[in-house]
Amino acid sequence: MRVPLLVPAVLLLGCFHGEVPFEVPPGAPHSEGDLFTHVGTGTRQVRHLNLDLTVDFQARRIQGAVELDLYSSVIQILGPGSARRRGSSLVLDSQGLVIEGVTGADGEPREWVLGPEDPRIGSALTITLYQNDMKVRIAYHTTEKSAALQWLAPEQTRDRKHPFLFTQGETIFARTWIPLQDSPRIRVTYDATIRTSPPLTVVMSAEQVGRGADGAWRFHMPQAIPSYLIALAAGDLAFEPISERSGVWAEPSLVKAARDELSDTERMIQAAEALFGPYRWERYDVLVLPPSFPFGGMENPRLTFVTPTMLAGDKSLVSLVAHELAHSWSGNLVTNATWSDFWLNEGFTVYCEQRIMERVFGPDRATMERQLAREHLEKEMRELEPWQQVLQPDLRGRHPDDYFSDVPYVKGALFLRRLEAIFGRERFDQVLRRWFDGNAFASRSTDDLVMHVKRELQNEEPQKAALIDFDLWLNKPGLPPDAPLDDSPALAKVNTQRDRFVQGAAASSLDTEGWVTQQWQRFIHGLPDTVSLERLTELDRAFGFTATGNSEILCDWLVVTIRRHYAAADGRLSEFLMEVGRRKFLDPLYTELARTPQGLERARAIYAKARPRYHAATTAKIDKILKWSYFRYVDLD
Ligand code: BES
Ligand code: ZN
Repeated sequence: MRVPLLVPAVLLLGCFHGEVPFEVPPGAPHSEGDLFTHVGTGTRQVRHLNLDLTVDFQARRIQGAVELDLYSSVIQILGPGSARRRGSSLVLDSQGLVIEGVTGADGEPREWVLGPEDPRIGSALTITLYQNDMKVRIAYHTTEKSAALQWLAPEQTRDRKHPFLFTQGETIFARTWIPLQDSPRIRVTYDATIRTSPPLTVVMSAEQVGRGADGAWRFHMPQAIPSYLIALAAGDLAFEPISERSGVWAEPSLVKAARDELSDTERMIQAAEALFGPYRWERYDVLVLPPSFPFGGMENPRLTFVTPTMLAGDKSLVSLVAHELAHSWSGNLVTNATWSDFWLNEGFTVYCEQRIMERVFGPDRATMERQLAREHLEKEMRELEPWQQVLQPDLRGRHPDDYFSDVPYVKGALFLRRLEAIFGRERFDQVLRRWFDGNAFASRSTDDLVMHVKRELQNEEPQKAALIDFDLWLNKPGLPPDAPLDDSPALAKVNTQRDRFVQGAAASSLDTEGWVTQQWQRFIHGLPDTVSLERLTELDRAFGFTATGNSEILCDWLVVTIRRHYAAADGRLSEFLMEVGRRKFLDPLYTELARTPQGLERARAIYAKARPRYHAATTAKIDKILKWSYFRYVDLD
């Protein structure tokens, strides 16, 4: 009986997705193929969120309600539903939340049940709706298990006066601070009213529409985004404009320096628009977080989040902003359909980042950055299991974050460079542009990309198609032999000086004039494993590595000092591990420490103190490196 009833309504809507008996936005089936959500095909779909939340720093919890606006159900479309008859169900993802109650637009309760907790993906929150329900309101609060949130004590901020909070939704953590349909295939718009203690400022991945008479902060996000891009931060923040549509938020004592470092942002936006089409998110602002932020950057729409460790003073690390900005096309506009298509987000973004860098800073810098990225990938790949070395990983039985490595980023970007070489740059730019324009505000899979490329190849000479081995690039471990190579003169110069040093030249005699961060990193990486303590001391005297404020250089230097037992840097290492929470730095440092029994002991002693200061995204990784769950922590102080 169900099928004949459904067919006309579904045709009426102009979209048929298997058996989905509800209205869904065109081209966006429910969570098909997503292993990491409880949302299946038998549920209504959410189209808009109204958040009404209080950020309570005392209790370290977010408390309030989310009202979900739903797409209509077929029963509603076929005729008016009866007010009280039990109708369809709504399935949401929820993890680490306390659900206090669920009500309909009539203010009356609706039945709900929170399913068993899966440690990876949390619980299904299933709500039984009345037939004509178009909205449902969930009262809830977060808990210590809300892994998206990091609450910072005032001492963990730069100005040390006020606490700070930020959220990190990617990959599947939005459900730990909002009960919602947490799949990259499902997009929502949102409005938010956020209350917090008076001197603090609240920002979100949305338009800030001012404050109400009650002091609450109001936000409006008119573009539909996947849930992992909903983001919030609260703290003592100041703003400095960069251009009409761009600016920087940071703690007051940092905001001017941050604005100077990021002063090329508008040029980057213009370069990106020339390459990839109009910027569709109106504003592009950057929020500089405290140093415990677990990533380099996070592409929250309209408001990129970045680590303060990117502020080197010489703009040498701004490719990170080019990267997060590029996500405004690859990722935020065209989103990976599932976490197995993660390379569509990150590989495209690295490719686009490199194109922006080339346009704004010239080919020498772009070549240097590309060569380093490839070398880093090759080194990392030696340590990865075969399943992690492919662009389309099988994530069954795993967490999406287990796949995190340079593979989706750099191997993904190399694949696109290979395609660029085959099509020719001019043609490939059109292919790319049509990919973004044709799939804007939608989620796409690797198969969709392959189809797009094959369709585009039909306009080329037939022999070009034969040059691309899709299966090799997408499904086989390792780096295909046709991966493009770079040869950077800036790095070759460093090699010459490194060789001179290794052959005995004094550190002070090396020609290092004008070297940027990446060149110093290259120099440090190239030091032989057997370098003596005397020579390390000499380098430190000449170049001040231990004392440097440049975290990239410092991190690489500290790895060498751990390996060579250079004790003069011990204090600096502990200090760095206590202050900085960026996973990319902590991973190699704790890994290097863990190579010897004494190092491991030291690492654990530091970690016991530092761990409460890290975000869950970082501790998830470092716990594994230090086998923390097996280790009983005893505070020696
Ligand atoms: N989207 C990522 C960060 C991310 C990925 C967070 C997966 C959680 C899960 C962001 O765009 C990113 O790639 N950041 C990089 C910097 C970039 C320059 C390579 C990072 O944080 O290291
Ligand atoms: Zn990225």
